[in-house]
Amino acid sequence: MSTNSTVLVTGCSSGFGLETVRFFLEKGWRVIATMRTPREDLLPRSDRLRLLPLDVTDADSIRHCIEAAGPIDALVNNAGVGLLAPLEGIALANAREVFETNTLGTIAMTQAVLPQFRERRAGVIVNVTSSVTLKSLPLLSVYTASKAAVNAFTESLALELAPFDVRVRLVLPGRSPTTSFGDNARRLMGDSVPEAYANFKDRVFAALRDVATPVTHTQDVAKAVWHAVTDPAAPMRMPAGADALALAHSQALP
Ligand SMILES: NC(=O)c1ccc[n+]([C@@H]2O[C@H](COP(=O)([O-])OP(=O)(O)OC[C@H]3O[C@@H](n4cnc5c(N)ncnc54)[C@H](OP(=O)(O)O)[C@@H]3O)[C@@H](O)[C@H]2O)c1
Repeated sequence: MSTNSTVLVTGCSSGFGLETVRFFLEKGWRVIATMRTPREDLLPRSDRLRLLPLDVTDADSIRHCIEAAGPIDALVNNAGVGLLAPLEGIALANAREVFETNTLGTIAMTQAVLPQFRERRAGVIVNVTSSVTLKSLPLLSVYTASKAAVNAFTESLALELAPFDVRVRLVLPGRSPTTSFGDNARRLMGDSVPEAYANFKDRVFAALRDVATPVTHTQDVAKAVWHAVTDPAAPMRMPAGADALALAHSQALP
């Protein structure tokens, strides 16, 4: 990997994706920032930056994007949606949307870049999952399942791609209240809280608003993605953010 390398990042209209694009641009890389609705005003102008439309749940959109992108050296599967609600209140259509985006979107994007990576015997794929897969939290059953599936997918895929010198890695961010994640998650949550869970839900939401506990910053995730892409010795799972690192550390202790 060199400063002439190209990274394609999904879900760049806000949060971790937007920060990751800024980070790679500052490091001198060529960057393809993809968004469902591309916006020119979010990023600094650069002849090393291209914006392309991409919806990771739409096969035609993926095909057009990969064709327009041309050869790339790294793919960051960052696009994702959250869903914080008791399972009893979750419409199956919304659970399906979470898996379509977080899990199948990641799988489809990976399939789309693999032929060129395998032929060149080079390339890195970084999948952004979550520290909730390290320690379970309530009201996140569907979301956690969608991300745990990506962990398992990635760790198996890494074994079959190693003979082709293609690397696959995971970045596991902790909770980051400053991105648009919460607002986007609320759209899928709708009125999905049955009365029996109302008090419990209020307690969980109050705990999530606690600003005294450590959180993850967008820069933490951008740096972890950078490390995963550029360092062949980077571990398979890279927690990102103070809370995620503390969690991973506590689990590593005997
Ligand atoms: N924030 C957290 O607490 C947290 C913690 C751990 C992991 N994560 C994970 O980190 C990743 C980034 O989250 P974030 O916190 O940066 O949230 P965010 O600000 O909501 O960003 C998510 C991005 O994904 C995009 N997206 C959603 N559905 C898409 C689709 N079908 N096709 C393409 N793009 C799509 C959104 O674009 P639109 O603007 O078009 O909706 C947005 O740009 C996600 O995978 C999330 O699960 C977040």
